[in-house]
Amino acid sequence: MDFHHQISSPDKLAALSCDALVLVVTGDTVEPGLATPLAAALSDALAHGDLELKAGKSLYLHRPAGVRAARVVFAAAGASTTKAFRAAVASGINLVKESGAKHVAVGLVGAGALTDAHAEAVVTAARDATYLYRHTKPSAPAASKIDKVTLLCGKADAKSVQQGLARGHAIAAGVNLARECANRPANHCTPSYLADQARKLGKEYGLKVEVLDRKACEKLGMGSLLAVAQGSDEPLRFIVARYDGAAKSQAPVVLVGKGITFDTGGISLKPGAEMDEMKFDMGGAASVLGTLRAVAELKPKLNLVCIIPACENMPSGNAVKPGDVVKSMSGQTIEILNTDAEGRLILCDALTYAERFKPAVVVDIATLTGACVVALGHHHSGLFTADDKLAEQMLAASAKGLDPCWRMPLDEEYDAGLKSNFADMANIGGRPGGAITAAMFLRRFTAKYPWAHLDIAGTAWKSGAAKGATGRPVPLLTHFVLAQVG
Ligand code: BES
Ligand code: MN
Ligand code: ZN
Repeated sequence: MDFHHQISSPDKLAALSCDALVLVVTGDTVEPGLATPLAAALSDALAHGDLELKAGKSLYLHRPAGVRAARVVFAAAGASTTKAFRAAVASGINLVKESGAKHVAVGLVGAGALTDAHAEAVVTAARDATYLYRHTKPSAPAASKIDKVTLLCGKADAKSVQQGLARGHAIAAGVNLARECANRPANHCTPSYLADQARKLGKEYGLKVEVLDRKACEKLGMGSLLAVAQGSDEPLRFIVARYDGAAKSQAPVVLVGKGITFDTGGISLKPGAEMDEMKFDMGGAASVLGTLRAVAELKPKLNLVCIIPACENMPSGNAVKPGDVVKSMSGQTIEILNTDAEGRLILCDALTYAERFKPAVVVDIATLTGACVVALGHHHSGLFTADDKLAEQMLAASAKGLDPCWRMPLDEEYDAGLKSNFADMANIGGRPGGAITAAMFLRRFTAKYPWAHLDIAGTAWKSGAAKGATGRPVPLLTHFVLAQVG
């Protein structure tokens, strides 16, 4: 799907050549200036109660009189925020995506000029509305015939719109990559598959990619990661990929993604219901790959290091057992009281490994706890950091990417639950505040750099009829990384 911008004005829209015209209407009154046939159709629909200018409302018209486009959609946005705009674009695209339309033009009717944020939103909304997983379901028909989307803008807005389209394209491609990886079942998306995806990105964008195997991890003393991986016949992969966009002397941004390609819980076995969804337990890793792709495409002047510890969490005769004590790469020992709290066990060694890059900042991303889903549901990712400035940057990136996250507490008091009689710490801290104690566990490995943790257990995928990966938080992470330039 290609995205372009075209300079146009509301009075010219009736003559515009395209297969479908999606007009986002902001505000609750019809602004003057819209081409007569369109203004007449809109006023008539409003007068007869066929459309209300409220968020979520839209109207499809087939061959309206006096309009060149065969299909017109009015999509009401309500508010004039980018979020409302994106939702309206999504509903408009959804109304025409199964039609014969190949070329869709999107315009804004009403308040204000188009910005780069609107342009980004059009791309991400359109790509999202037309994404369909097919890799292991080739019989699925293509989601849509749409192959070209034109964003209509004013002359003065053209430059920023162009920039927004480019950023949107990179983010959407990153989101798609993350969704494709995470949607693949665990017999396809193995640790080796993730490594291959990283290598492929490396070839495409000229990135340095290094993949460590079990032996290399043993040499590094990653006893915690190895303990999780030891129960599976599927070999572990520790993936390191670097985008170098600035001088070597510039401290890099480091992203660490949890890459559990399947989480059975191990000997602390999970119940059977919905266990299939634990194929999504590499959503953090997928989002790191997606962000790497987006960043490599946009080429900002900074350095980025992506680290993905990847393995399966399986029960077997070799599996780690409750009560086993292991030594992490940091030298700290861990009593593994619950083998299902495995995400933190692979992340802690990756966080220690990150030290060698002398990072400016480290962000880890993980489908870490069911407790985070209980706390925040499926809308906000959980954000944990003791660094107020970093929290602000993450929240700003989250707002820009329309990819919500919510800051959670990380006070010292929550650390008490990790006490163990047999090791420096236990890997679980009891049920209350489970997302926070998980973050506190990770915090013990991050003393050497500014650090934030995103728990995406509730946001990386959807359950039920719409089961599938979301590609989140690629938009948040991409905006965060881009903002680190300079
Ligand atoms: N991958 C899960 C977290 C998870 C569970 C994400 C359900 C999304 C939905 C993680 O490895 C896990 O099993 N966490 C345990 C931790 C507990 C044993 C302290 C959990 O949340 O139950
Ligand atoms: Mn688990
Ligand atoms: Zn897990």
